[in-house]
Amino acid sequence: VPPIKVALLGCGTVGGEVVRLLTEQADELAARVGAPIELAGIAVRRPDKHPELPQELLTADAAELIDSDIDVVVELIGGIEPVRSWLLSALQKGKSVVTANKALLAEYSGELAEAADASGADLYFEAAVAGAIPLLRPLRESMAGDRITRVMGIVNGTTNYILSAMDSTGAGYAETLDEASRLGYAEADPTADVDGYDAASKAAILASLAFHTRVTAADVYREGIGGVSASDIVAARVLGRTVKLLSICERVIDENGAESVSARVHPVMIPRSHQLAGVNGAFNAVYVEADAAGELMFYGQGAGGAPTASAVLGDLVAVARNRVVGGRGPRESAHAALPVSPMGRT
Ligand code: HSE
Repeated sequence: VPPIKVALLGCGTVGGEVVRLLTEQADELAARVGAPIELAGIAVRRPDKHPELPQELLTADAAELIDSDIDVVVELIGGIEPVRSWLLSALQKGKSVVTANKALLAEYSGELAEAADASGADLYFEAAVAGAIPLLRPLRESMAGDRITRVMGIVNGTTNYILSAMDSTGAGYAETLDEASRLGYAEADPTADVDGYDAASKAAILASLAFHTRVTAADVYREGIGGVSASDIVAARVLGRTVKLLSICERVIDENGAESVSARVHPVMIPRSHQLAGVNGAFNAVYVEADAAGELMFYGQGAGGAPTASAVLGDLVAVARNRVVGGRGPRESAHAALPVSPMGRT
């Protein structure tokens, strides 16, 4: 069986772990997939800044790498352009895509899914929400026969790390944010974390999958943790509560019985006895409520190199297996159009 050739775009905290795991587990992964997974190239902005990587694989030309003889693109660069154009071009040429790009998916998942469906390529993005926690594929596949009514939880590790530290040690906001960046939890621009943009992108992705519709980041009401002060945390503690940044996606029914989807991100004071109050550091936890399944809870490491790489590798194995057997993952472009509540639009 010929190898599945992989192009890696971006090699930071998560990409470095993906390369390490692909190398260390090459034989096991080949046995699992039924073909070797071959890292065919790594596109980075500055190849001279990566002495730790196999030099013969490095290139600064991502577009050329995508156009070369590869089967799968793993995108870990982030941001919208030029990544959107690169991934669309890969999908249009039938190359499968694994991405952790929350901001891109929250805006353009419809366009990307249509390109994937048109060419028969796969588009997998488990690492985009809640790091290591298997959450998107359960929503997309395992729960596809149920009717989900609510998805709610902590989906940003950086802000949870900051709020947990402020609550437990009284540490200051700025020093804790620096620590979250040093540990590889925060985005390159950490205002995406603290202002709630990252959590809003993830809420858009979760709501789109859970409710089989298209929710974009602009549809999500958003408040970050910038307004949460040390005295708010102390006041919450006096009330037997703690502050968490929650993402809440729900089906809502108006007075005329019309159904829509609402998504919001904001700090919430929750009782210390609540299970989410015990989710600390860069851990994430998400509740899913569905008519038949009842309540489920997903919990684990939501940020960081190795946990996020675990989700990327899982997707890579899935798309490689699909290539080996000649199948593909679920269709995404044919969503029903459940309307989105305008609460996030300003
Ligand atoms: N900056 C993100 C977070 C990384 O803190 O959750 C994981 O998506």
